[in-house]
Amino acid sequence: MLQFEDSSPVNTSTLGNVPDKIDSVPTTTSARVRVEDKRVINGTADVNQLVPFKYNWAWDKYLAGCANHWMPQEINMTRDIATWKDPAGLTDDERLIVKRNLGFFVTADSLAANNIVLGTYRHITAPECRQYLLRQAFEEAIHTHAYQYVVESLGLDESEIFNAYNEIKSIRDKDQFLIPFIDVLSDPNFKTGTPAADRDFLRSLIVFACIMEGLFFYVGFVQILALGRQNKMMGAAEQYQYILRDESMHCNFGIDMINQIKQENPHLWTEEFKKDIQGLMKKGVELEYRYAEDTMPRGVLGLNAPMFKEYLRYVANRRCQQIGIDMLYENANNPFPWMSEMIDLKKEKNFFETRVTEYQTGGALSWD
Ligand SMILES: [Fe+2]
Ligand SMILES: [Fe+2]
Repeated sequence: MLQFEDSSPVNTSTLGNVPDKIDSVPTTTSARVRVEDKRVINGTADVNQLVPFKYNWAWDKYLAGCANHWMPQEINMTRDIATWKDPAGLTDDERLIVKRNLGFFVTADSLAANNIVLGTYRHITAPECRQYLLRQAFEEAIHTHAYQYVVESLGLDESEIFNAYNEIKSIRDKDQFLIPFIDVLSDPNFKTGTPAADRDFLRSLIVFACIMEGLFFYVGFVQILALGRQNKMMGAAEQYQYILRDESMHCNFGIDMINQIKQENPHLWTEEFKKDIQGLMKKGVELEYRYAEDTMPRGVLGLNAPMFKEYLRYVANRRCQQIGIDMLYENANNPFPWMSEMIDLKKEKNFFETRVTEYQTGGALSWD
C-alpha cells in the first residue's frame, strides 16, 4: 500500500502494477536496473525506472506522438455545418456514409482506450512501451472527443449515433469480434508467464493492432477522406486526417511490440499460432467488407464496395507481412494510392490546405 503522508518506503514491487491479486509482473528486486533484464512481457526489471533505455523505438514513438499533438476544437467546422444543413449539400448516400462512419468510430476509440488502460498496460513490463501506451490512451480520448465534436457540430441525433454499435449489425459484428480479445486482457485473473497465457496476450495484441487499428478503421478513413478530396465535409475530413496519422502510429507501435515479443519469446510463434492469426485476419477482412457493403449500398464518391474488397486484402497482406506471417491474398493491389499520402503527412500543408499539417508542440522548441 502506498503512503505519501508519512515516510513509509514506497513498495516498488507493486507500484507499476495493479495491486493485490492482479499482479501479472514478477516481483522486482531493489537491484539497479540493467538493460539486459528488460523484457516487453514477463520482465523483472523495475517498471518505474524509464531509463536505462532499451526500447528506443518505443520512446521515439512517444516523442513523435507528443510532437503531433492536436485538439478537435482547433479545426473549423463552419463549412461542414452549412453543407450538412443544406438539403442539396450532400446526397443521401453521402449522408449515410457520414452517419455510419461516426456510428462505428464514436465507440470504437473507447474500446481502444479500455483495451490499453484496463488490459494491455498492466501486462507490459517495458517502461518505454508503457510510456507510449499512456500517450496512446490520451490520443484515444482525443479521437472520441473529435467524433463527438463532429456529431455535436452537425447536430446529429446523439442517441442514434452512439447506439449504432448496438443497433447496426455491420458495426455490432465488428465490435463483437473484438470484445473477447479485450476481455481476455482485462480479466483480473489473467496473467502472463505461461506459454498459453503469453500466446493469448500476443493474440490480443495482434487483433488489436493489426485488425482493429490496422484494418477496421480503414473503410471509414477512406470514405471520409474521399469526401474531403471532393471538397465536402472538409472539417470532418481534417479531423480524420489527424486521427489517421495517430492511428497509423498506434498500429506501427503495436507491430513493433509484437515483433519484439516474438524475438524475446520465439517459442510462442508456432505454425499453429500463425494459422490461428491468419484465420482471424481473414475473419477481420470479411467483417470489414460487410461494413463496406452496408455503408455503400450503391457506388458513391467514385467508391464502391468491390474496390474495398481489393483494398482490405491489400491492407491485410501488409499487416501479415509486417508481423512475419505469409500473405493471404495473391495479387491484391491498392486501389487508393492517395491514402499513402494521407498517412505520410510530410508536406508543408495538408491535403485540404486548411492549416499547417506539421503542427507540432514541444518538439519544435529551441533553446539556442
Ligand atoms: Fe483512436
Ligand atoms: Fe488507436
